[in-house]
Amino acid sequence: MYTNIVVGTDDSRTAREAVRQAADLAEAFSAALHVVTAYSVLHEGLLAAVPASTGLMGTPEVAEASEAQREQCEDLLRDVVNQLAGRGIKAEGHAVAGDPASAILEVAERQQADLIVVGSRGMTGAKRFLLGSVPNKVSHHTPCNLLIVQTAQVE
Ligand SMILES: Nc1ncnc2c1ncn2[C@@H]1O[C@H](COP(=O)(O)OP(=O)(O)O)[C@@H](O)[C@H]1O
Ligand SMILES: [Mg+2]
Repeated sequence: MYTNIVVGTDDSRTAREAVRQAADLAEAFSAALHVVTAYSVLHEGLLAAVPASTGLMGTPEVAEASEAQREQCEDLLRDVVNQLAGRGIKAEGHAVAGDPASAILEVAERQQADLIVVGSRGMTGAKRFLLGSVPNKVSHHTPCNLLIVQTAQVE
């Protein structure tokens, strides 16, 4: 039923559960699995507060920090992809700069995904009943089926 599955992870415990379930589905359907990790050098709030016109985004310091984050993502993705390949799953990693939901949607469009998998949320405590911002945003724009893995029990 599924041939191209996209899953998002930031290597949090809950996201790892989403990857685990996406891997089980990829295995069951002999589907390709695209693992997306989005990174951003600037905190979202800060990013919104810094107009592009300040030129801050173009400084060597920001470029260096961004490069370090990209390498960290590549390392994570290499590990995940190797693990999946060990199970016979055709897996590919995608390190994308920017907003996680946009990154997941962009890869899904490009790969013509028929399923997107994300965890429900990464928060704990009183925020337990809130849907994370990533699944919330993806759900409004998804071009295909979306599986929101209930991760409350793994927190
Ligand atoms: N940086 C990221 N890159 C790719 N996917 C992510 C990223 N951050 C979160 N996700 C996906 O979104 C799910 C929920 O996380 P999130 O919405 O960030 O929750 P919270 O708002 O509670 O931190 C994760 O389980 C993961 O599947
Ligand atoms: Mg988060």
